[in-house]
Amino acid sequence: MQIIDGKTISAEIKKEIAAEVAGLIDKGQRAPHMAAILVGHDGASETYVASKEKNCHSVGMTSSVYRYEENISEQALLEVISFLNGDPEVDGFIVQLPLPKHMNVDRIIAAIDPDKDIDGFHPMNMGRLVLGEDTFIPATPYGIMELLKRSGIETVGKECVVLGRSNIVGTPMALLMSRNNEHANATVTLCHSKTRNLAEVTRRADILVAAIGKPGFVKADMVKEGAVVVDVGIHRIEDTSKQSGFRLIGDVDYEEVAPKCSAITPVPGGVGPMTIAALLVNTMKAYRKNIAKEKR
Ligand code: GUN
Repeated sequence: MQIIDGKTISAEIKKEIAAEVAGLIDKGQRAPHMAAILVGHDGASETYVASKEKNCHSVGMTSSVYRYEENISEQALLEVISFLNGDPEVDGFIVQLPLPKHMNVDRIIAAIDPDKDIDGFHPMNMGRLVLGEDTFIPATPYGIMELLKRSGIETVGKECVVLGRSNIVGTPMALLMSRNNEHANATVTLCHSKTRNLAEVTRRADILVAAIGKPGFVKADMVKEGAVVVDVGIHRIEDTSKQSGFRLIGDVDYEEVAPKCSAITPVPGGVGPMTIAALLVNTMKAYRKNIAKEKR
């Protein structure tokens, strides 16, 4: 059984990006700049944004975080987005989700300049993704595709079952896996809360991607012998035996499932670090777009 090492592969990608950024600086150009908007104090969001900043710095990029309290109005947030859209020094930015309930998330995302939308969530970029056009690919599915490619996992003609149809992961994942190229070309089934006989469907998977946000949901009887399992979940579970008082687990019951797999991503150290690496790749792309605009 192969443990798919997201930590090492993401470190490789970050090394490639760091070399590219160093090359820009050597030529006297400015570093790429990623910004993040963080509303409220959700623990997971705080952790993600801190990690995005740390990783930006580790490859020589600039980052800035715009923090607001939970009660910021939608109008005020739209103004922040408009400011970042117009700031030539900011190449790309994200609005960390989830947002407070009084916000219309679709309206917020639609206000982001598609050329700065490094999450790839804007309807224009999602549309380009559906059409197979050049776009910002959402970081988690992008990271997973790169992880499979660099781990030598065959996808062509395989049965891929994606568990969960979120806009952030499941839906773009299903699209990418069904694309016509040598690192995709899978036959894809997208499962959700209304899927009948779920275990029967997931047992067909040569490649199973679990992105349902339920800790330990995927059990051994849902997985075919020899399957490749990609675990997108990340949940804090209380564990008094740990100094921190918690441990991280995924959407897959790793202890049960791993022995049946030909390959599996661990949590932590699988999909998580790849998501950040993919966001850095998207930031580089946004930088190139921005520089090209400046030259016009
Ligand atoms: N919340 C959970 N995942 C993501 C992500 O990829 N991007 C943003 N902006 N928020 C998230």
